[in-house]
Amino acid sequence: MAARQDDRAAALYRDLPEILTPRTTLRRMRPSDLDDLFAYGSDPEVTRYTGWTAYRSIDDARPFLDRTLERYALGLPCDWAIEHRIDGCMIGTAGFIWWESHEFAAEIGYALARPYWNQGIITEVVHAIVRFGWHQMELNRVQAHCEVENLASQRVLEKCGFRYEGTLRERVFSKGRFIDLLLYAILRQDAPDQITEKGEPS
Ligand SMILES: CC(C)(COP(=O)(O)OP(=O)(O)OC[C@H]1O[C@@H](n2cnc3c(N)ncnc32)[C@H](O)[C@@H]1OP(=O)(O)O)[C@@H](O)C(=O)NCCC(=O)NCCS
Repeated sequence: MAARQDDRAAALYRDLPEILTPRTTLRRMRPSDLDDLFAYGSDPEVTRYTGWTAYRSIDDARPFLDRTLERYALGLPCDWAIEHRIDGCMIGTAGFIWWESHEFAAEIGYALARPYWNQGIITEVVHAIVRFGWHQMELNRVQAHCEVENLASQRVLEKCGFRYEGTLRERVFSKGRFIDLLLYAILRQDAPDQITEKGEPS
């Protein structure tokens, strides 16, 4: 049973579909995204609350891009590139960090270029990938972690219907210090409207 689900998971991610949101296209990352990735990933404001540090050169950006392309090839959960439909730029990434198909559970993460903050873009992207989680991955639980001081990320999760479940004290050691992480999750039963939307597999 678990092996069959893992095969299904791999097939889905090897052929990761595009998702349209009102203002963005979520698509596979491409080698040509490197400059856009470096442009926002080198901004220390973007990486203030992330586990990674701001890129200092384009070579620092390459491993993330290469790793993501490798994960597509291996059929492992990974990020979509967020492409802004009007200017055509790759303005961030969002996706699943891990997926335990036998537990019907997965975790999401996201980051967005600073010029696009506070316009509701990640909220619409998170809505879309969580819907993908219900319909295509058959998830029961989607979770996310964020730092205590990352109020924008907490607000995004609340707007998307996630509930705060607790604080993991000094859960990670990052940038020279131990950091508390807040755990948020949304369950299938919390989102009946999304489950009955068009696209639900019978
Ligand atoms: C967190 C992040 C993804 C949010 O993306 P976004 O597209 O700006 O999010 P949205 O516009 O959908 O929503 C942001 C909400 O946070 C609120 N907000 C922003 N800064 C805030 C602050 N300092 N204090 C309180 N609320 C804040 C906004 O007002 C908005 O809420 P509202 O719609 O009720 O007004 C973006 O800031 C980012 O990429 N940050 C850097 C990377 C990162 O932290 N990733 C998440 C790691 S857990």
